[in-house]
Amino acid sequence: MTSANDTPTRILRDQHENILRIATVLEVILAGEAKPGALDFDALEDCVSFIRLYADALHHGKEETLLFPELESRGMPHDVGPIAVMLHEHQQGRGYARAMADALPAARDGSGEALRALADAGHAYADLIRAHIMKENNVLFEMADQMIDEPACRTLCAAYDGVCRHTFEGRTMAELEAILERLLEKYPQA
Ligand SMILES: [Fe+2]
Repeated sequence: MTSANDTPTRILRDQHENILRIATVLEVILAGEAKPGALDFDALEDCVSFIRLYADALHHGKEETLLFPELESRGMPHDVGPIAVMLHEHQQGRGYARAMADALPAARDGSGEALRALADAGHAYADLIRAHIMKENNVLFEMADQMIDEPACRTLCAAYDGVCRHTFEGRTMAELEAILERLLEKYPQA
C-alpha cells in the first residue's frame, strides 16, 4: 500500500522494476530452449501468469484507468503523443502475452512449431517491455511529475491502493509478487 512519500509515478516506477525482472527471467528460461527437453515449462507458465496479471491487469490497468485519464484531464491528448504510443504498446504486449499463453500447452506436449512461437513471442515481449518502460520512465512520467500536483497526487495514490486490493483471476498482488520471488530464487542469474 502507498505511504506518505509515494507519488503516482514512484509507485509505477517501482512496479516497472518487477516487470523488468520478469523479462530477464523469461529470457533466461528461454535460453534453455537450446537443450531439447530441458525447458522449464512450469516456470514459463508462471512468467506468463505474472505478465498477464501483474504487468498487464494490475500495472497497465492503473495506468490506463487512473494515470492516463488524469493526464488527459490536464490537457495531454489521448489519440496522439505519449499516451497514444503507450496505449499502442500495451496492446502489443497483450498480443505477445496471449501468443505465449496460446502456444504453451502444445509446446509442453512437444510441438516444435509451438515452441518456436512461444520463444518468439517471449523474446519480442522482453524487447518491447524494456523499450516501453524506458520511454514511460524517462518521458511520460517526467511529464506527469510536472503536471500532477497535490492534492491530485494523494487522490491518485489512494485510487491505486484500491486497485491493489483487487484480485486478479483470484490472486492478490502479494501472491503475484511471490511468483516473481520464487522465480528469482530459482533463476538467480536473472
Ligand atoms: Fe508502466
